[in-house]
Amino acid sequence: MTSVHTSSGPVVAVVVAAGSGVRLGEGGPKALRTIGGRALVAHSVEALAAGGVDRIVVVGRARLADDFTRALADAPLPWTLVEGGEERQDSVANGLAEAERVAPAARHVLVHDAARPFVPATVVAAVLAALRDGATAVIPAVPVIDTIRVADPVPGEATVVDRSRLRAVQTPQGFDLATLVRAHHHVRSVGLAVTDDAMACEAIGERVVLVDGSRDSLKVTEPFDLLVAEAVWRGRRPAADPPAAHPSTDGTSTDDTSAIHPSDGGASTDGTQMMGRTSR
Ligand code: CTP
Ligand code: MG
Repeated sequence: MTSVHTSSGPVVAVVVAAGSGVRLGEGGPKALRTIGGRALVAHSVEALAAGGVDRIVVVGRARLADDFTRALADAPLPWTLVEGGEERQDSVANGLAEAERVAPAARHVLVHDAARPFVPATVVAAVLAALRDGATAVIPAVPVIDTIRVADPVPGEATVVDRSRLRAVQTPQGFDLATLVRAHHHVRSVGLAVTDDAMACEAIGERVVLVDGSRDSLKVTEPFDLLVAEAVWRGRRPAADPPAAHPSTDGTSTDDTSAIHPSDGGASTDGTQMMGRTSR
């Protein structure tokens, strides 16, 4: 795995994994659902490591700490787990506070959805390269392939939209860490709901730079997406066979090689309970 250190210091990634996966349906929390015997969150961490990330903050649920620990037992990077918030943006804010704590020298941060397990290393590296070129907010995106209509106020009617300029936005999104922290404080203080972190940065006037995303980086949202993700994984297997199965939710894994140290944390600034799980 290549780790691209420059004067911008280590790169920390916040992996948000605290959602419940309502649209995916039964089968446990989405981030812990498995593909090829490996939890989505573990695939995501591996993908970020392959793209040049040095340190991971996983935002999950305290009640699932043991499951996350099992799922990430062979993670290629040091990771820490913190409690999620009510909405995704709250989870990101909690993760950023922890990122600043565990990686005080980090200038850049990536924010990634655990629900996108197969982001190619090239996409992660492209986001990092744009940050190192001076961007403060970077998002990977792909052209929209469907014909899109906007529903009109009149029921049953809709207006077609020129799709040539439309882009579907993915993660990991990359940021200057201090800028993103400021952006999240701002959206929280004005009560603005944002669905991604680039929106929070735009709210404080930052310019957002686009880089090419990838169709492989699909977001697992509904049961159909899990089937597609399985197919992506099978297509990659010759190059990246997974290690022995690492069940994340059935408690059978015994390969718990990452030392679990008590956190020095206590409560973070916004009252987030630190779970006291860290891998190194
Ligand atoms: N997420 C989070 N904290 C929340 C809500 C979402 O960390 N309070 C994370 C999810 O775990 C996921 C990512 O944000 O990795 C994108 O969210 P989404 O795909 O909507 O996942 P869920 O919220 O889990 O799914 P659903 O909306 O179907 O319940
Ligand atoms: Mg959701």
